[in-house]
Amino acid sequence: MAFPSAWLDELLHKNDIVSVVSEYVELKPKGRKLWACCPLHGEKTPSFSVSPDKQLFYCFGCHAGGTVIQFVMDMERLTFYEAVQNLANRVGMELPNEINDREMQRQRAYKKRMIEANTEAARYYSRCFLDPETGRDAQKYAAKRGLNAEIVTRFGIGYAPDTWDSLLKLLKGKGYSEKELVDAGLLVHNAERGSVYDAFRGRLIFPILGVNGQVLGFGARVMGDEKPKYINTGDTPVYNKRNNLYGLYLHRNEKLDDLIMVEGYMDVIGLYKAGVKNAVASLGTALTQQQARLLKRYVEKVYIAYDGDAAGQNAMVRGLDILKAEGLEVRVITFPDDLDPDEYVQIYGKEGFDRLKDNALSLNAFKLETMAKGYDMNDENGRERYAKTACAFVAGLQPIEQERYYKLIAKKTGYALDALKAQGMRSGGIYTEPNQTPVRGGFRRRIDAGEDPRDVIERTLVLACLTDKNALAYASRENAGQLLKNAVFAAMMNAMQEQGSAFSAVKYIGELDGKDAEIASAVLKEEDAVQNPVETVADCIRRMNREDEADRISTLQKRLNRTDLTAEERNAVLKEITERIRANK
Ligand code: CTP
Ligand code: MN
Repeated sequence: MAFPSAWLDELLHKNDIVSVVSEYVELKPKGRKLWACCPLHGEKTPSFSVSPDKQLFYCFGCHAGGTVIQFVMDMERLTFYEAVQNLANRVGMELPNEINDREMQRQRAYKKRMIEANTEAARYYSRCFLDPETGRDAQKYAAKRGLNAEIVTRFGIGYAPDTWDSLLKLLKGKGYSEKELVDAGLLVHNAERGSVYDAFRGRLIFPILGVNGQVLGFGARVMGDEKPKYINTGDTPVYNKRNNLYGLYLHRNEKLDDLIMVEGYMDVIGLYKAGVKNAVASLGTALTQQQARLLKRYVEKVYIAYDGDAAGQNAMVRGLDILKAEGLEVRVITFPDDLDPDEYVQIYGKEGFDRLKDNALSLNAFKLETMAKGYDMNDENGRERYAKTACAFVAGLQPIEQERYYKLIAKKTGYALDALKAQGMRSGGIYTEPNQTPVRGGFRRRIDAGEDPRDVIERTLVLACLTDKNALAYASRENAGQLLKNAVFAAMMNAMQEQGSAFSAVKYIGELDGKDAEIASAVLKEEDAVQNPVETVADCIRRMNREDEADRISTLQKRLNRTDLTAEERNAVLKEITERIRANK
């Protein structure tokens, strides 16, 4: 469909490519172009360029390029039409009427068809599960997992038989085209062989329902130890997991006090069976802002109860800030012994879970607990160092909150309340709430060729903390020290946190060995880079997180090049890469 060309001209004129791209990455001028690390693929040195004169972008790394519309299509995974719509919204332009109506009708009809196909598929999977022959293994597996008939019905659990074409035949027979079924994620298209086949085979099926009860997609679990454990519907016209929460539809007509965020299908189901009916799952991904907003429509208070393993705990820390930023009251439930919620209620029952819930931690208490994991609390020295860092953190909180957290530290370390308060005073953070929105212009310095960007960023962060106590309080609160790869900087950061305003850089550096002293002194070279210390710290943290994530992505990309992956494993890796790239925006 064509947009009127004068209208498109206006759209392009109003959406300057530099300003649009700048919403994603910070561009730096060099020559006639502006440069950045490519937001479309992971990289450490900038090969992504924008030409303001030509209004085009090009990445020398991944060879993506084009107009601002193409950029939005790539960045947001949108169709041409959707990208235009997005840009029109951005500048407050109305879509030309005729197009609006015709296209919207077409899209609505297509989505409706997709949901119908999904509904047919869900019914089919359910029939297969219940069939004594076809469903024998699935029923056995479900029974082993404690899924009784009531649960199977409530969650619509099904079974996809281990064949390549049974769903394909059924739905084609009902008039759906291969394209529609591929678009819905029910079939997979093999480009090399030009054939299509059922996406889910020999797996237990968890239908994913939207808040209005429509079937939007599926999770499919192996019934043994094969990999990948789950295959899930990817992005389709009706489903995007970033916008959905598994299990939320069960509560569409209820008034709830709170919701419990868990990671997986089986956690929602296991809790439900035990009588804890208000759990919803983010389905293994990091919690998104869209999901947080969805939660906010239902409740004011959210308990976050991720798996006890390290991955779960890390995902939790990130999720917490997202929930808080949406104005939700957040509490943290932690499970002992690496258990996940499903395993926990199987052992300790609803009573056990309710006890954990009653004792759930506040956001700050959770951060203080996480912090303690970095120290040996059985050792006097470890407790002392922890107490110093923790007091600096608490001194950065609002005065009214401080009391109870000093008490918490006292309980953990055995130090007297007065001593802890004095320690906190000495670290002296007058607390200011830092800018929550992504910071542009926090970190201003140009990184020259031959310099290690990470090194520059770490130096800048340390210097910002050195020059400003609010910056230090903010960095402590965000656990920025843990992001520092350079051990010298990490140690220096730690010392600053422990000693607070008593810290003297000159003295500290003076006591280091030659080589380390040289590295630490380099911090002072960054003076010009720090103008707004708190913002600079926030910006450095953002950049380091982004770079760490880029590293993770490139590790995955290396995995892709291995030849011993099955098609499914390859797809799983590809999917993870895509998700990470997107989450990394
Ligand atoms: N997940 C996924 N793909 C995988 C592993 C996990 O999509 N290969 C997602 C699923 O949504 C899963 C969630 O991450 O529900 C949490 O993963 P995990 O804790 O491993 O699974 P459980 O839901 O606990 O499932 P089970 O108890 O059956 O192992
Ligand atoms: Mn589990």
